[in-house]
Amino acid sequence: MSLEEVKNYMNSIRRDFADRPLNENSVKDNPFEQYATWFEEAVNSQILDPSAMNLSTADAKAKPTSRIVYLRDIIDSGIVFYTNYNSQKGKNLAENPQASATLFWSELERQIRFEGEVEKVADEVSDKYFAARPKESKIGAWASHQSDVLADRKELEEQVKFFTEKFKDTKDIPRPDFWGGYRLIPNRIEFWQGRPSRLHDRIVYLKKDNDWQIVRVNP
Ligand SMILES: Cc1cc2nc3c(=O)[nH]c(=O)nc-3n(C[C@H](O)[C@H](O)[C@H](O)COP(=O)(O)O)c2cc1C
Repeated sequence: MSLEEVKNYMNSIRRDFADRPLNENSVKDNPFEQYATWFEEAVNSQILDPSAMNLSTADAKAKPTSRIVYLRDIIDSGIVFYTNYNSQKGKNLAENPQASATLFWSELERQIRFEGEVEKVADEVSDKYFAARPKESKIGAWASHQSDVLADRKELEEQVKFFTEKFKDTKDIPRPDFWGGYRLIPNRIEFWQGRPSRLHDRIVYLKKDNDWQIVRVNP
């Protein structure tokens, strides 16, 4: 397709959504319980990557940037992902510790949005997660200066070779101190369910003190 054809095609795609209601009276009181209910349905629907979420951060001047990361854990009402602390997202979060994260499960016509403050998880939490990763992933974490410019692919492969050699007799490869988890502690969580004629259901949990207020918002 030419770019012109692509533009026309994008414009012509319209899909209507099935009629699967989401009701403020039947959702769980706690948004993480609601997430668990939906997550189970996502797994049962064989969604390929149900934990892949689009994470948006911003620098000190509020310039936004987004990328996909995996939601790996839920700890003390916070969603946890792992990354390189020196990456672009890591630098953003050091300057401006707020983020939003969005999951989209196309097959179920569902979207979940989290917004809130972000902090690093405790070292022991990152250590435990790192220890459970395959050896190749551990070496990859050491080898990659995530988000920095590489001269070429070979430079990365040399780094992998270097750390493979360095750790060849090491049973428990240690976690690099520049790699670990973050916890996004949401004060707003939205569950979106596609409905016919763009009259979608949007149920929002707002954190009030230590409780959650549930409201419905316009589609
Ligand atoms: C499905 C998928 C899952 C990903 N999971 C992670 C992840 O858990 N952690 C991570 O650092 N990068 C992950 N990435 C790579 C990021 O999208 C991104 O390229 C990388 O983190 C660098 O982002 P940054 O330069 O904005 O910091 C994933 C990418 C995809 C497509």
